[in-house]
Amino acid sequence: MDKNLALHGGSKAIQGTFPSWPLWDEAENRELQKTLASGVWGVTGEAIPRFTKDFASFLGVKHALTVFNGTVAIVLALEALGIGPGDEVIVPDYTFMATAVAPLKVGAIPVLVDVDPDTYCIDPDKIEKAITSKTKAIIPVHVCGNICDMDRICAIAKRHGLKVIEDSAHAHGARMNGRCAGTFGDVGTFSFQSSKTLCCGEGGAVVTNDDEIMERLFSFHNCGRHSNNPDYAHFLPGNNYRIGQFQAAVLCAQLQKFKSQYLIRDANGKLLTELLDKVDGVVPQRRAKGLEIHGHYLFTFMLDERYDRATFKKALKAEGFLVQLEYPAIHTLDFMKPYVGKNATFPVSTRLADHSIWMYHNALLGTQEQMHQIAEAVKKVLSCQARI
Ligand SMILES: Cc1ncc(COP(=O)(O)O)c(C=O)c1O
Repeated sequence: MDKNLALHGGSKAIQGTFPSWPLWDEAENRELQKTLASGVWGVTGEAIPRFTKDFASFLGVKHALTVFNGTVAIVLALEALGIGPGDEVIVPDYTFMATAVAPLKVGAIPVLVDVDPDTYCIDPDKIEKAITSKTKAIIPVHVCGNICDMDRICAIAKRHGLKVIEDSAHAHGARMNGRCAGTFGDVGTFSFQSSKTLCCGEGGAVVTNDDEIMERLFSFHNCGRHSNNPDYAHFLPGNNYRIGQFQAAVLCAQLQKFKSQYLIRDANGKLLTELLDKVDGVVPQRRAKGLEIHGHYLFTFMLDERYDRATFKKALKAEGFLVQLEYPAIHTLDFMKPYVGKNATFPVSTRLADHSIWMYHNALLGTQEQMHQIAEAVKKVLSCQARI
């Protein structure tokens, strides 16, 4: 391998290209043409029920309902579970902002909790400490596709009478102890935004095993109607969170592709973790205990603090690594300041925000040889870091 950095004219450590994202072909085209020709583009068409049935069956959950994005999926779950003004909702400090904003949208207060340094998922010990008499729910986030410690989180919730909404926007198809992400708590939420591993441009879903919760989810997403009465009878102050048939048509085709992609991401993610474990200077995200399939919306690792991240990323990108931008810690966002306690500290999420490296999930659809090349690229850039 050329020891000169690609940044300085050397040859790239990573050969070839990775599949582009999103991936689509004739199947999506056929579905869209069929929907167009049907003339039924709204909620009464056939693609939405076909997708929700297939998605629920894939996850092993009783009900799935599509909504127009993953943010309103969380808002809808909070509304359906009766969470509102003055209630406190525990959320991780390391996530996309939508997880923390959703409680604000129903008048509730997001209470930030730090994450585990190995799995990057919300720390159950810190959840316990954050519970007050006002706490009504916990929103664990299966971050990057790793699954939170759901046994402990559900036990804590049961002990304190709290609801659990699993933000599974990163974790389509992730599996732990025989169950899929999104199916452990009261409601699971998903995003199908275009960067996600299952996508349709913009879209989302809620899933649940509970018939009564499902009826409330349906009603709040469809103008307060009952599921068996679609007319002008409105029982709840619901919203219109419905998607149209075009997104569902794309999702029907994408779900078939997803079923052949997610195990490749998991296997390549495992291989890359093993390879990077042997590299001094980086530590990959640890798979949670009991995890059978990692959802791998992202592949992530921590860069040792002695290296400058911006310089490292620039050199790694030149080697052909699919560098992605990382999240800031939620407590640093201006609009969150009123909800952060004076003495609150978030050492793990702060370190992740400042020193983690993120790679796009389509790189994990590459070959095993490319996983070896990615690890070699990391090694090469680290060894040249002093010379950059
Ligand atoms: C963890 C998490 N939750 C929620 C969302 C919100 O999903 P959407 O962008 O579809 O509203 C995202 C989107 O990236 C996310 O990453």
